Amino acid sequence: MKVPYLDLNHQNLPIKNELINAARSVIDSSWYILGSKVEQFEKEYAEFSKVKYCKGVANGLDAIILALKSLNIGPGDEVIVPSNTYIATWLAVSSLGAQPIPVEPRIGTYNINPDLIEAKINTRTKAIIPVHLYGQCCEMEAIMNIANRFNLAVIEDNAQSQGAMYKQEVTGSFGKINATSFYPGKNIGALGDGGALTSNDEALMHQVGVLRNYGSERKYFNEVQGVNSRLDEIQAAFLSVKLPLVNRWNMERVALAKRYQDKLRGVGDLILPTVAQYATHVYHIYMIRTARRDNLQEYLRMHEIGTLIHYPVPPHMQKAYQSLNFKAGDFPIAEIIAKTCLSLPLYPGLKEAEVDFVCDTIKKFFS
Ligand SMILES: Cc1ncc(COP(=O)(O)O)c(C=O)c1O
Repeated sequence: MKVPYLDLNHQNLPIKNELINAARSVIDSSWYILGSKVEQFEKEYAEFSKVKYCKGVANGLDAIILALKSLNIGPGDEVIVPSNTYIATWLAVSSLGAQPIPVEPRIGTYNINPDLIEAKINTRTKAIIPVHLYGQCCEMEAIMNIANRFNLAVIEDNAQSQGAMYKQEVTGSFGKINATSFYPGKNIGALGDGGALTSNDEALMHQVGVLRNYGSERKYFNEVQGVNSRLDEIQAAFLSVKLPLVNRWNMERVALAKRYQDKLRGVGDLILPTVAQYATHVYHIYMIRTARRDNLQEYLRMHEIGTLIHYPVPPHMQKAYQSLNFKAGDFPIAEIIAKTCLSLPLYPGLKEAEVDFVCDTIKKFFS
């Protein structure tokens, strides 16, 4: 049996006709940029995220950059970010000349540890970016309390957790302005790049609308120095087809994760994902940890099982951030996660027999 790490055909082929119809209606309209499809999807995604406003942009990285830009964050400012995240969170901050200030995660949830945030706050601190990593929401109550006490903006990076909840509230609805990605493999993915911002703040979202379109409200009149970062009409049309299916897909992810949990509990030295009692986990990534990670990955590869490592090098150890002068040992939790983590196949359409095959192969490796 061959089990790829990800197979998007399971998601996209059953709705191929709807996707083709969506593409056709954009082609027939002959309107490709910032038209009715983007407007419609923005309404739908705002509703899904339980916020008043949504703006579609070109990708998730731009969404974080535009959130920061709308808050006038730039050179001289500091922004608190997780030490354990995809590098996009850091890149958004540093691309504006601001300084990413890393905070370690809790080793149980892998998400930023609110108990460590306050020590990193000073007069230059402007915002906190909690990243709901792998599909589980951060400790939003504690994070919002700190932000309110120190008058900091919260920007949720919700690229990996669309549809996840903190208690009864959905991710992407807590921060002053929040970012997400519709990269094809995300829980709601386009058929290309895409991203969005969500917020209840009308003025900020108006600013995002201006910034994403060259800083222009009226064609060829530019109020501010903006960028070109717009969600395409065709991607918005695809996303409107897919959005109603996300909660069902997320439930399927949860069921598959439970099967992994049941079968892998107590196997070798494996550390399985834990779900905090305040959280629903939507398993964008099913990540396990083992001291024998590299050998296990190779063993699974030999048995035609695809896996990935999210992520092999934490941002502070990336060459791109050499100039920040971090060294090995500065963020030991992020570093141990990077050395031991392995993501197993988990996506809507993955069969129970395939999960069982992955688990049996892992058991054989450890026996
Ligand atoms: C946590 C996180 N933030 C931001 C991004 C950036 O999204 P994009 O690839 O759409 O730019 C990603 C995804 O790749 C991500 O996983």
